[in-house]
Amino acid sequence: MVTHYDLLIRGGACVLPWAVETADVGVRQGRIAALGVSAGSTADIVLDAKHLHVLPGLIDPHVHLRDPGNKAIESIPSGTRAAVLGGLTAVFDMPNTSPSITDAQHLAWKQEYAEANAWCDIGLYVGGTKANIGALAELEVARGVCAIKIFAASSTGDLLVEDDSSLEAVMRAGRRRIAYHSEDEYRLQARRKLFKRGDPYARHMEWRDEETAFLGTRRIIAMARRTGRPAHLLHVSTAEELGYLKDYRDIATVEVLVNHLTQVAPEIYERLGGFGVMNPPVRGPRHYEAAWAAVRDGTVDTIGSDHAPHSRESKMLPWPDCSAGLTGVQTLVPVMLDHVNAGRLSLMRLADLLSAGPARVYGAVNKGRLAAGYDADFSLVDLSRRRRIEDDWIVSPCGWTPFAGMEVTGWPVATIVRGVPVMQDDEVLGQPTGRLVAFRS
Ligand code: DOR
Ligand code: ZN
Repeated sequence: MVTHYDLLIRGGACVLPWAVETADVGVRQGRIAALGVSAGSTADIVLDAKHLHVLPGLIDPHVHLRDPGNKAIESIPSGTRAAVLGGLTAVFDMPNTSPSITDAQHLAWKQEYAEANAWCDIGLYVGGTKANIGALAELEVARGVCAIKIFAASSTGDLLVEDDSSLEAVMRAGRRRIAYHSEDEYRLQARRKLFKRGDPYARHMEWRDEETAFLGTRRIIAMARRTGRPAHLLHVSTAEELGYLKDYRDIATVEVLVNHLTQVAPEIYERLGGFGVMNPPVRGPRHYEAAWAAVRDGTVDTIGSDHAPHSRESKMLPWPDCSAGLTGVQTLVPVMLDHVNAGRLSLMRLADLLSAGPARVYGAVNKGRLAAGYDADFSLVDLSRRRRIEDDWIVSPCGWTPFAGMEVTGWPVATIVRGVPVMQDDEVLGQPTGRLVAFRS
């Protein structure tokens, strides 16, 4: 039967959950209507994907859309623009803005702004604090909310829940999976006096050492087991934690960052100085190897960029005044595609980590799978395209990337959100049509 579609993606190698197969994909009303369409089918828009791979819409589940100068929601347009240029169809945005997103009023303000201004779909974290524990059960099921985010150690911003009794109270409020920044605040504070202002940037990883991360994770996991409350451990950065978490798959899911899979200390601090400083820090080769082993053996559920664009001025301040956090939403897919080309993971595993994984961990509805009936979100990539990542490609006003100068093989060439092409060949198209992602409550 000859059928008409809104959009047809012709001849691409589709990365399905079960195989990579060449198929024509038909889209109607923002959903995948057919995988494999009959000859002679027509469409309003036909995209030729011969020589391209069609991935399920890739998601960056960990961004801080907070450009220098813009402290809160105003960075949604530039941040999501960067996302679609980088081949992403959705991002999940962190709450540590100023003001932070910790109550219904600020959440409503952000929901409304996101729906009018985002270029891709967007999920929102709500920050847990000692003061809003009573409201968390309601906040975590609000529209577009992917999870409650807890900073168990201080990082950028003022969100912090560090003590066991408050952490336990948070876990007993509500039901959905909680996302944690799990360093141990007490050890951080105790170790701070071992270092002085102006110390080399590499001291950052000695201050926030392996045990700071592992201790934080052990404390949270013990409480998660006791309370039965699912936990998502963000940016797991040590071999010790990755080994330990394998025994807690009943309660814990795991994120690693592209930075921890790509950059290694001390080289990064020697080359980038303050521009390599993030929390938790980039560490030595042993941890880099452990992160890749955990990607390969399935320990890792999601990969994020932890996009946190700080101004050049603030990154050039002496340690520890330099801000922590690295630009990343635009470079996540190109850098990960380069890892695919280098043989470090398969394209199917990439789709698992950047699409199915975030959808499964956070319960995103109709996302994460190239299958009939799901949202027509696609990331089209050219696996053979070679290109150098440069600062001048970065659209975040901060204007820099820790991957500048890196030559990658593999590049996103089109981004389609619910059937609408929003990026093709480095151009952002049309108007922002992003929506809040729906999550199972
Ligand atoms: O390096 C970081 N930057 N780590 C965090 O936990 C927060 C982030 C930011 O918001 O700047
Ligand atoms: Zn973060």
